[in-house]
Parts: sequence; C-alpha cells; structure tokens
Amino acid sequence: MREEVKEGYENADYEGLYRDGREIRSEEKDLFQDLFDYIGDSAQILDLGCGTGLPFDRYLIENGYDLIGIDIAEKHVEKARENIPEAEIIQGDFFEVDVANSSLDAVVSFYAIFHIPREEHRKLFEQINEWLKPEGYILVTVASTVMEDLKESWNGAEIKWSSFEGSKTLEIIEKSGFEIVRTYEEDWRDEDHLWVLARKIKSD
Ligand SMILES: C[S@@+](CC[C@H](N)C(=O)[O-])C[C@H]1O[C@@H](n2cnc3c(N)ncnc32)[C@H](O)[C@@H]1O
Repeated sequence: MREEVKEGYENADYEGLYRDGREIRSEEKDLFQDLFDYIGDSAQILDLGCGTGLPFDRYLIENGYDLIGIDIAEKHVEKARENIPEAEIIQGDFFEVDVANSSLDAVVSFYAIFHIPREEHRKLFEQINEWLKPEGYILVTVASTVMEDLKESWNGAEIKWSSFEGSKTLEIIEKSGFEIVRTYEEDWRDEDHLWVLARKIKSD
C-alpha cells in the first residue's frame, strides 16, 4: 500500500489542486487554539504525513513551535523543506520516525492516516502514545467513512485509502490510551473528515 500511495503522490498535483490558497478555516483555528492552550508556548510537535507543509505546519511554526515533519513522498518533502525551512523534515514512513519515547508535546497528522492499512491504525496510535510526554496531545484528521483498501484514480494518479467509520476510529484512539477532548466533523467539497483533539491518559 505504501508504494502505491507514495507513487500516487509523486504523480498527482496535490499541491496545485488542494493546497494552493488553502487557508486555515475558522473551525480549524479553534481546534489549533485549544491545542496551543493545552501544550503551552514552547513545545515540540511531530507531523505525520506533513505534505508540503502548507498551511498547517507553517501555522505551527508561526505560533512558535518546534516541528518535525515526516512524509513518504519525495516531492512533498522537497516542497516542505522550501516552505518551512525552520522545521526538520524527514522522508520516510510514519513508523520510521526516530524520536525518543515520552519526548513530544503533541503529534499532529492531517488527512494522512487513512493511507496506511486500517489494521495498522491502532498500532500507529499506540506508537504515537509512546512518543508523547504524559498528557501529550494529538490533533488528527481521519476519515469518517469506511474505506476497505480502496484504490481509486485520483487527480491523475492511483492512490489507496483504508479507514473505519469515524466512531470506530474514535474507539481505537481511546483504546490506544487517549481521552477524546473534542471532535469536529468537516464537510468540504465531496469529502467528509473527522478532526480529533485528544489527550494522552496512559503514563509510562
Ligand atoms: C492528503 S496528503 C496531506 C498532506 C498534509 N498533511 C496536508 O494536509 O497538506 C497525505 C500525505 O501523507 C503522506 N503519506 C501517506 N502515507 C504515508 C506514510 N505511510 N508515511 C509517511 N507519509 C505518508 C503522503 O505522501 C501525503 O503527503
């Protein structure tokens, strides 16, 4: 699945179609503000599937945070390094990030977790939980509908998605050691996504 997703993003014009002129919407700013209030002014954040870094990572940097981003697509990694030179951008898979356990204040991931097989979603949230400091936070955008290894032609590329319905993903997040703080159901173009702000409750 990773190879197909990587190749898809290397070929698709994700930036041109989805990120040029993409503003952070007011509901999203509210969620970010909640996150900022919880983690404080000085914090280290990891973004899984950072894409080109716009608009979300730029916003985190502008708000004074230290950021590490990881993305599997070389094209996006190069763009992210240009767009947010203040951040450390790594090329690789979510599970390849080399960060110490209990070291991060927050992990964010926008529109990316549905690109790994859904059987791995719990493992990923458990891994994220380990990377976080006690009472660290996640702010993630996940799919709200079931996609069973769906492969589709998308903007000129073949890309794969894999997800559960939103309520099941919330259950997975809770079982991975988090308490849900707030959710927001996004309804944009032909897509529905679920934004989730959650707090780590399992201490090491
Ligand atoms: C829809 S884009 C979203 C990018 C960015 N978060 C944003 O909102 O603009 C999904 C991103 O996840 C990356 N991605 C997908 N699967 C990945 C994986 N297993 N490891 C790292 N990055 C991955 C893709 O390369 C792509 O850049």
